[in-house]
Amino acid sequence: MTIRLAATALDQAAALLRAGELVAFPTETVYGLGGDATSDESVAAIFAAKGRPRFNPLIVHLSRAGQAERLAQIDSRAALLMQRFWPGPLTLVLRRAPRCPISLLASAGLDTLALRVPAHPLALELLRAADRPIAAPSANRSGRVSPTTADHVMAELDGHIAAVLDGGPCRIGIESTVVDLTGKTPLLLRPGGITLEELERQLGPLAAPNPEEAPRAPGMLASHYAPSLPVRLDASSVGANEALIAFGPDAPKGAAETLWLSKNGDVDEAAAHLFAVLRALDRPEFTAIAVMPIPEHGLGRAINDRLRRAATR
Ligand code: TXA
Ligand code: MG
Repeated sequence: MTIRLAATALDQAAALLRAGELVAFPTETVYGLGGDATSDESVAAIFAAKGRPRFNPLIVHLSRAGQAERLAQIDSRAALLMQRFWPGPLTLVLRRAPRCPISLLASAGLDTLALRVPAHPLALELLRAADRPIAAPSANRSGRVSPTTADHVMAELDGHIAAVLDGGPCRIGIESTVVDLTGKTPLLLRPGGITLEELERQLGPLAAPNPEEAPRAPGMLASHYAPSLPVRLDASSVGANEALIAFGPDAPKGAAETLWLSKNGDVDEAAAHLFAVLRALDRPEFTAIAVMPIPEHGLGRAINDRLRRAATR
């Protein structure tokens, strides 16, 4: 049985983490499935709970940027981004420090480490109370959409983890941006809560990973975030048996059910609703989920990335 803890039971959640148990917790992006990042057993338990392939490395969460130095090699670009965007929805992939105490399993055998300081007050309090780096993928079963409420976490992982700390719905609703700083040119491995525009203002142009190479962020398989129903993108009309994800004031009529990402066409609001709406419409009475076009700017880029993956099967 998975226990649901109120925000006031934070100390209990921290004690479970210190004892090596798994605890899901809210961040500003999505709920994370946390475990002690220095313990091979806890990290292995995370993979088991998610049903996740072993080769997919995990993000390690810290309560302060100052803790990163002991764990990874920080160059001037990393220092700049940490200073500008932490706490916040940015994950940096860096080389592991020589005596890095983080479980090698969290790096999935790579010599790199993904680090982030989340901007959710409850997450930061939990990280401080747990008093160790916490490895946390999104708290969903492998291949499913990320949870943005404690109810979503329960629907995914009840019985597989010790507890979920309930902090209400996540503010941003889409995962962190992942930037790889291990090479000469910074690579955008995953669009997310910090926009490409914001990053390029600090760093200059970022490159996209070479699709010919093995994926640098192995979690970014083409087919990921998959609902059970087929997803049809760029819909301008809709069938009577289809569910519709609408964006903006003018949605086509005739869908079996319509849910809006944002009625007034706000991409930030749309990101916050994306995963809850995908989840709510993924029901066997529909033949497919049709999605109206979302503009490719700001968080729209991350939304379209997730939708393209949801549509690939
Ligand atoms: O917003 C988020 O980032 C959430 C919250 C809980 O922090 N976490 C999250 O974790 O989305 P996850 O495991 O679902 O996605 C982590 C992504 C994956 O695409 C993974 O492959 C990539 O980060 N990643 C992690 N470590 C990496 C590494 N060493 N090298 C390259 N990519 C890495
Ligand atoms: Mg995930």
